Amino acid sequence: MENPRILVVDDELGPREALRMILRDEYEVVTADNGKQALDYLDVSEFDLVILDIRMPDINGIELLAEVKKKAPETEVVMITAYASVDTATNALRNGALDYLIKPFDCSSVKEVVEKGLSRRTTSTAIRNRLNELQVVNDSLKEEIERAYNNIQKHYLETVRSLVAAIDAKDSYTKGHQERVAMFTMILGEEMGLSAMEMDLLQQAAILHDIGKIGVPEHILRKPSTLTFEEFKVIKQHPVIGAEIISPVEFLKEAVPIVLHHHEKFDGTGYPEGIKGLQIPCSARIIAVADAIDAMLSQRPYAPAKTVEQVREQLRLCSGTQFDPKIAETALKIDLPSRRLNY
Ligand SMILES: [Fe+2]
Repeated sequence: MENPRILVVDDELGPREALRMILRDEYEVVTADNGKQALDYLDVSEFDLVILDIRMPDINGIELLAEVKKKAPETEVVMITAYASVDTATNALRNGALDYLIKPFDCSSVKEVVEKGLSRRTTSTAIRNRLNELQVVNDSLKEEIERAYNNIQKHYLETVRSLVAAIDAKDSYTKGHQERVAMFTMILGEEMGLSAMEMDLLQQAAILHDIGKIGVPEHILRKPSTLTFEEFKVIKQHPVIGAEIISPVEFLKEAVPIVLHHHEKFDGTGYPEGIKGLQIPCSARIIAVADAIDAMLSQRPYAPAKTVEQVREQLRLCSGTQFDPKIAETALKIDLPSRRLNY
C-alpha cells in the first residue's frame, strides 16, 4: 500500500499529538479534535485507517464509528479508551472496530495495531477489486448467454417457419393456411383486447398450431375425397404430434397446450382430449375460430369455398357448440372480405 492515510480523532491534544508523532514517519497522518471535523474530512477524502477516541464531547466514539463504517465500510477503525473496560471494547468490536488501544499507549502497541489494520485493509481492498473484476466478467457472460439464447430462439423460429412451409408444400389445399390462421388469430386477439404478452404467445402458437401435420402421411393430407375413419384417426393425431415436437423447447412451453387443444370444441366434442368450455386454453379457442374461418373461405377438393355471408352464418350457428360464443361474436365483428388473402 503506498502512503497509507490515517485519521486520528481525539479531543485531547496530548494523545492526539502522541499518535501523530508515532505514526508520521511511515504514514500520512491527519488529526481532528472533534467528531464533526472528522466527518468533514471523511466526506472529502479517503482514509485507510481511523483512530477514534471513545469519549469525546460532541459525538461519542461509538456513534462516530458507525458513521465511519457507513461512509467508508472498508476503512479500518481502532478505538482509544482511557480505561480497560471489557464492555466498551466488546461494544466497539461488535460495531465493526478492528481493535482498541488503552491510554496511555506505548509506541510499539500503536504500531502493531496500525500495521494489523492496514494489512486487513489491503486484503479487503484486494478482495473487493477481485469481486469487481468478477462482476464485470459475470456481466459480460450474462450478455453473451442472452445473445446466444436469442440466437437459438431466432434460429429455432426460422426452422419452425421452414417446417410450416414444408407442411404447406405437402398439402396444397392448405397453402398459406397457417399464415392466414395466424393473421385471423391476431385480429381476433386484438379485438378481444389481449395484452402484448398474450398476443406474442398467441402469434407463436398460431404459427405453430398445425406443425404436427409434418407427421401425417402425404397421401392422407392430399387425399381429394372424403377420409376414411382410419385416415381421420391419423389426421386427429396432429395436435398431439405438434405438442410433442415443441414440448422439449423451453421458450415454447406455453404454446404446448394451445397447439395440443386447437381442435377441441366448446361443447366437448372435439379432439384430442374432448375437453370443453373454459377448460380449453383461451388461445386455443381463438385459433379454433380463426382456423375454421380460413378453412371455410378456402376452396377444398370436396367442398367449394363459402361466401363471407355463409361463413358468418356458420359462426352464428356453431356458437356455443363448436366455438366459444364470445369469440364467435368477436369474429362476426371482423370485416372478413377485406381480410381475404390469396384465396
Ligand atoms: Fe389443425
